[in-house]
Amino acid sequence: KPIVLSGCQPSGQLTIGNYMGALKQWVSMQDDHECLYMLVDLHAITVRQEPEALREACLDGLALYLACGIDPEKSTLFVQSHVPEHAQLAWILNCYTQMGELNRMTQFKDKSAKNVTNINAGLFTYPALMAADILLYQANQVPVGDDQKQHLELARDVATRMNNIYGDMFAIPEPFIPKFGARIMSLQEPAKKMSKSDDNPKNFIGLLEDPKKLTKKIKSAVTDSDEQARIYFNTEEKPGVSNLLTLLSLATGRSIDELVPEYEDKMYGHLKGDVAEAVVSLLEPVQTRFKTLREDRAYLDEVMKKGAEKASARAAVTLDKVYNSLGFLPRP
Ligand code: AQP
Repeated sequence: KPIVLSGCQPSGQLTIGNYMGALKQWVSMQDDHECLYMLVDLHAITVRQEPEALREACLDGLALYLACGIDPEKSTLFVQSHVPEHAQLAWILNCYTQMGELNRMTQFKDKSAKNVTNINAGLFTYPALMAADILLYQANQVPVGDDQKQHLELARDVATRMNNIYGDMFAIPEPFIPKFGARIMSLQEPAKKMSKSDDNPKNFIGLLEDPKKLTKKIKSAVTDSDEQARIYFNTEEKPGVSNLLTLLSLATGRSIDELVPEYEDKMYGHLKGDVAEAVVSLLEPVQTRFKTLREDRAYLDEVMKKGAEKASARAAVTLDKVYNSLGFLPRP
């Protein structure tokens, strides 16, 4: 079976963007692939996190993975900081990644422009840690949203570079980007992607949000000033409307082509009402399952413990191989 690895940052509440771009794919890959899914807390601290909030977000994230349908019997589910090999391999990969390569990363440019008071080295070398996450498990496929494509390409380049020097060290991972839904946009600023750490909470839909609150957010989403208020799919001309159509299509499982004619004589308000209803029905069962899971700390601990053990055993094999190839002395 091909090996799959992916993760989300516990840098806030997971959004419908994380769900559509990542989690939904993860769930569907569990039967035909050998899947490893993690919460990447080491990545989350590239932006300052309040310790208690980080702990809570991690537990929430874990319960959400489970509530969305990740099955710990089928997949390895773990917290990144529980497996020290991630940080260990990341250091090595840092030494094989060029400054020029990291300088080209658009996420670094965006995040450092947004947070000028904390442009730390971790934010800059984030892609090396992400490469370590993937290469440690010899992953073949990495399901990600559009925004992570560039980082994945860098992971491939570094892996190829090291394979050329040392022989077959790493499997070269392929990105798995959904054809549709790989980029859910912000509700108020549909030219940029929806992000869980957006300063404006009106921009994102959290997976745990109260139905009333998320209905209000969707109803106040930015559309456009087209006087005829036409509803059709075109991300350039109609970014806001297209984003709503995307959400509706993904939440109902109906295609855009099937949906658009139904809005021929309707107003933006109709579309927003339908999107809100569809998102609420999609999230309701997830939220119910989440509530039970989140209260069962003993079960969550058990899942994390088993997951970390399984992940660590595999990661250690790759790290040993790398240490040995590089010329590190084995610890006597
Ligand atoms: N808007 C999105 N549409 C589709 N997919 C998305 N992903 C993120 N946002 C969207 C995908 O979700 C996975 C986990 O992402 P992450 O948590 O590791 O970090 P991120 O990409 O930086 O996501 P956020 O929500 O924007 O987090 P913050 O605000 O903390 O930076 C990835 O597969 C990503 O592609």
